[in-house]
Amino acid sequence: MPATKDKSNSPIGRATKRIDGPLKVTGSAIYTSDHNFPGMLYAVPVGATIANGTIAKLDTKEAEKMPGVKAVFHRANIGQLFRVAPNSDFSAFSDEDRPPFDDDIIRYYGQYVAVAVAETFEQATAAAEAVKVTYNEKKPNVETLLSADSKVHVESERGDAQKAFDDAGLKLDVTYTTPAETHNVIELHSSVAVFDDPNFTLYETTQGVVNHRNVLAQVLGVEPENVKVISKFLGSGFGGKITPWPQSAIAAAVSRKLRKPIKLVISRKMTFHAAGHRPRTQQRVRISADEKGKLTSLQHDYLNHTAILDDFKENCGECTKYLYSCANLRVTSALAKRNIGTPTSMRGPGAVPGLFATESALDELAIKLKMDPLQLRIINEPEKDEGINIPFASRHLIECYKAGADKFGWAKRDPRVGSMKRDGLTLGWGMAGASWIAERWPAEVAVELRNDGTAKVSTGTQDIGTGTYTVLAQVLADKVGLSMDKVEVVLGDSSLPPGPLSGGSMVTASLIPAVSKAAEKVIGTLLAAAVKTPGEKYFGVEQKDMTYTEGKVHKKDEPASAGISFQKVLNAGNFKFLTGKGSSSTTFTAKPKVSMHSYGAHFVEVTWQEEIARLRVNRVVTVIDAGKIINPKAGRNQIEGAVVMGIGMALFEHTHYEPSKGAPLNSNFADYIVAVNADVPALDVHFLEFENTELNEYGARGIGEIGLAGFAAATANAVYHATGVRVRNLPIKIEDLLATT
Ligand code: MOS
Repeated sequence: MPATKDKSNSPIGRATKRIDGPLKVTGSAIYTSDHNFPGMLYAVPVGATIANGTIAKLDTKEAEKMPGVKAVFHRANIGQLFRVAPNSDFSAFSDEDRPPFDDDIIRYYGQYVAVAVAETFEQATAAAEAVKVTYNEKKPNVETLLSADSKVHVESERGDAQKAFDDAGLKLDVTYTTPAETHNVIELHSSVAVFDDPNFTLYETTQGVVNHRNVLAQVLGVEPENVKVISKFLGSGFGGKITPWPQSAIAAAVSRKLRKPIKLVISRKMTFHAAGHRPRTQQRVRISADEKGKLTSLQHDYLNHTAILDDFKENCGECTKYLYSCANLRVTSALAKRNIGTPTSMRGPGAVPGLFATESALDELAIKLKMDPLQLRIINEPEKDEGINIPFASRHLIECYKAGADKFGWAKRDPRVGSMKRDGLTLGWGMAGASWIAERWPAEVAVELRNDGTAKVSTGTQDIGTGTYTVLAQVLADKVGLSMDKVEVVLGDSSLPPGPLSGGSMVTASLIPAVSKAAEKVIGTLLAAAVKTPGEKYFGVEQKDMTYTEGKVHKKDEPASAGISFQKVLNAGNFKFLTGKGSSSTTFTAKPKVSMHSYGAHFVEVTWQEEIARLRVNRVVTVIDAGKIINPKAGRNQIEGAVVMGIGMALFEHTHYEPSKGAPLNSNFADYIVAVNADVPALDVHFLEFENTELNEYGARGIGEIGLAGFAAATANAVYHATGVRVRNLPIKIEDLLATT
């Protein structure tokens, strides 16, 4: 079934260890906050203690007199900071548009109102606490029940969904909610800013060094050429580090004011305030089917909360449009403004909460139909993307279901609620489908062949922990016929050729064509060098008769083994290195001719121990159709990590906003629960590697996000099977399950 066959010596598709692994495990990898400079000062922001109102008075006198304190900055003395221009191509985008300290209006709890700067972190922290702020306070709106503040936007429509729904005998009208979730990455958001007039060097925790540079240049009011953003290693991002947050501009502005390097690391608590989150969603699903299970209508009307100033849409209908065949469909969205920090992308934005709703609804419908939920999905498999009426480029969702069902043992499922028992525990078996976009960002890379026999690939992207260093080493090693230890990968610097954002699971797919072109370019130069070096083997041969394979320069009519290495060519010609550049374009701008997505299926077993109200995720099988997997080791790790996050989403994660003050209540690791080892069983992950070269020659798509899509629904479906309780509001709580017992 896997269609792609590798040349035995190609590193593509090989389960290679991370090339940056030794640096990380020995502590030699330099993360943002590890940067230190002579004379560096520490900055600690002061966050508003109200969520709605205005600043009446900001008194910094006491704070300024404290030991080690150099300054306290706020709106009146930080200097002008500018707004980011509206942007539709993601080249300079920031989810929070308002520059820090822009006015005296407080719109969310924790909004930065000042920043204390001192010689030590402790002194700066003490000074920040000593800044006295009085407010004109208004009651905040952090209400969880959502109703549309904005115009309802029709995202997709075909047929007449309402009429078909009204006419249907078998139907369901239910509402699901998903809570605000905070990206609890290990590495806190950090900025180390070094201003050396007129240039800024900004060490940042970012999933996009180029975007970060472009945004910060605008906010600081300088040219992009005067800003360099560095991010060599990231302690993960999950989307929370895609766009810059206010601490970055604050650090840079303070550095410019004081002419000193500034380190600013926000606290875990501040992470909940002013560094993005996945917004709460409320999704009404109306769905109907005929008696055979064929869908006759599907309506998905969703709302998400957003900040007062920013219209962040959680695109819950992302997959609804194309996942199932249904002639009558309508998807709408709307926003509900709240006194809450700006939401942002979180792993699988839109699709992940959206699929919780629609994949739960499919399960509920299957139960009404007395039909196997897997069968219901198979019946409604579309032949084309009915959302935009184009063929699928590569869709193997049914194969995912079948492979997953096989490996899980789904055929042995007794559909009766609570009927399956093992070792005194009630088992629940649930399943759901998954999908995610498969696209490319624009990307440029440089490839260098060097006279010591090594090669280098460099691009202004970053490795957020997903394995980009390693995957690029594999790709370049394949392209120039070198072993991976002879390949250097340079990333995480905005002055490199502009590379992709680490967002949307698109880095690998985006970079492959660019590396390929850059390699072709440099090999062309290499061949020219080979035939122009007097006294050397190929001197005077026509360049068109030359080629490069398996690491050797040789004539087309002779085997590679008769040729010479590029190292020999470079040394003979006295070249230190040769460089080639390559770029590839985004797939977003073109009117698509084919529908490109990845697919997957999750099968989940939960155990329910009613006597002590203990619910566990006990067994998981996940099958992913994401094309060629360049590195199955790093790839599996992505899916496993996503499933771990899925267990957290299904059972634990929930940012609570306290209604009177509007503060996130559980803004720490004791009270914001994420899945830990003890919550996670052994995970069984499989890739179906169907060949499709739409995005690049290897047929690689993205795998960073899809593993989370659908997982919470599969779990909720399993919980229903075990307990008979349909939980439509995440996370699934023990209290929900006790209600009926
Ligand atoms: Mo992702 S939410 O595109 O890091």
